Amino acid sequence: MRIFMTGATSGLGKEAAITLAGEGAQLWYLSRNKELSDALSKEFKQRYPDSPGQLIPVKGDLADLQSVKAACEAVMKETDYLDVLIYNAGIWNFSFRETKDGLEETWQVNVLSHVLITNLLISQLKKGSDPKILLTASGLHQGKIYFDDPGFRASFSGFKSYRQSKLAMMLLTRHWAKVLEGEGVLVCCQHPGLVDTRLGRDAGWFARWFFKTFGRTPEKGAETLIYLAQSNSNQLEAGAFYKDKKVHKTTAYSYRLDEAEKLENTLQKELADRGL
Ligand SMILES: NC(=O)c1ccc[n+]([C@@H]2O[C@H](COP(=O)([O-])OP(=O)(O)OC[C@H]3O[C@@H](n4cnc5c(N)ncnc54)[C@H](OP(=O)(O)O)[C@@H]3O)[C@@H](O)[C@H]2O)c1
Repeated sequence: MRIFMTGATSGLGKEAAITLAGEGAQLWYLSRNKELSDALSKEFKQRYPDSPGQLIPVKGDLADLQSVKAACEAVMKETDYLDVLIYNAGIWNFSFRETKDGLEETWQVNVLSHVLITNLLISQLKKGSDPKILLTASGLHQGKIYFDDPGFRASFSGFKSYRQSKLAMMLLTRHWAKVLEGEGVLVCCQHPGLVDTRLGRDAGWFARWFFKTFGRTPEKGAETLIYLAQSNSNQLEAGAFYKDKKVHKTTAYSYRLDEAEKLENTLQKELADRGL
C-alpha cells in the first residue's frame, strides 16, 4: 500500500504512520523538522526491524504553500500511484499568527494546504487500488464557517478558529465524497477522541494537565485512522465521520452540501488567486 500523509511526526499520526509502515506500507510524509523525522525513523526501525515497509520524509511545511507544492511534486517523481491520502496534521493556536503566505495559520495549515495537496495528488490517487482520502476532523466542529473572515482577524479566538477548521475538514469530506464517488475514491473523516499529544502545547498548564489527565494514549487515538486506512472501501461509508471505528452522527450544519460546495469554491479561489 502506498500512502501520503501529513501529521506523521507527532501524536496519534506518528503512531498511525509507524503501524501502517510496520505492517508493510510505503508511506511518504510531510516533514518540516529533520530531528522529528530522524526520531520517527529510529522508533520505526526499533519497533519493526524486519518490516519491508518504509517511512519516507518529504520536506514541506503546511504554513508555506510553495513548499507544499514542491513536496507534492517530489512525491509525484517517486511514485506514479498512491492508494491513500491521510490529512492528519493540525494545529490549535492560542493567539493570531499569520503565515508567510499572509493567511491565518490555522486556516492554512489545517484546511487550505490540504486542498492544495488534493489538487496536486488526485491523479496519482486515482491510479491507486481502492483509493481513499482520510481526514482527521474532531468532535469539536460545532458552529459554522465564517466565510467573511475565516482567519478571525476582526477578533481572534483560537477555540473558534480550531473548531471551524475541523468543521471545514468535515464539509470537505462530504463534498469530496460526493464528487469523487463516481471515480472510485472513498472519502471519510475521523475523530480520534481526546488524546494526550502536543496539540495543546501552547495552551498553558491547565490544558496540558487536561490532555494528560483525560486524554487517551496516542496508540489508542490512532486506532480508527489505522482501521480506515486498512479497510476495503466497500466496508466503509463515503462521507462519514468515524469515531472508535464506527460512524457517528454530527451537527446538522456539517451535512450541508451547499455550504460544503461554497467552502470548496472559496478555497479553490484562494489557491487560484495565488497561481496555485
Ligand atoms: N489530541 C486530541 O485530543 C485531538 C482531538 C481531536 C482531533 N485531533 C486532531 O488530530 C490531529 C493530530 O493531532 P495531535 O493531537 O496528534 O497533535 P500533535 O502531536 O501536535 O501533532 C500534530 C501534527 O501536525 C503536524 N503539523 C503541525 N503544523 C504543521 C505544519 N505547518 N506543517 C506540517 N506539519 C504540521 C505536526 O508536525 P511537527 O511534528 O513538525 O510539529 C504533527 O505531526 C490534528 O488534526 C488534530 O486536530 C486531536
